[in-house]
Amino acid sequence: MQVAVLNGVNLDVLAQRDPELYGGLSYGELETRIYGWARELEFSARCFQTNHEGQFVEWCHDSTRWANGLIVNPGAWSHYSYAIRDALEICGAPVVEVHLSNIDEREDWRRHSVITDVVAHRIVGKGPDGYKEALIYLKEQG
Ligand code: DQA
Repeated sequence: MQVAVLNGVNLDVLAQRDPELYGGLSYGELETRIYGWARELEFSARCFQTNHEGQFVEWCHDSTRWANGLIVNPGAWSHYSYAIRDALEICGAPVVEVHLSNIDEREDWRRHSVITDVVAHRIVGKGPDGYKEALIYLKEQG
């Protein structure tokens, strides 16, 4: 089973962001964990990160050609990018939305995600382990 893990804006500088909210890992360490969990669960995973919205949209389009599942953390785009929302809507594969922090209990503007209505499942506030939970969810979907 093939899974695409798409991380968006500012996740490349994870190590510089508030460790209380985001877990204190670097982006490289996060990817290493994701690849390790994917191996344990017998997934073939490919992780991507970009600060360019159009690139993120193109990866959504492209992933539908090869992935059986998508895990996405669009970062701040989650709160306003209808372009990403529309790209995810046409993904044939199940999509899991992951946020390291608990966006439901943060600032008002952060509580709303415009992609939530087009994803199969949503995991917030579990730190890096949220990605593991997302992989387990996709595994259960078969
Ligand atoms: C985030 C939450 C977003 O509100 C924020 O802009 C991020 C990261 C998270 O993983 O908790 O960049 O998606």
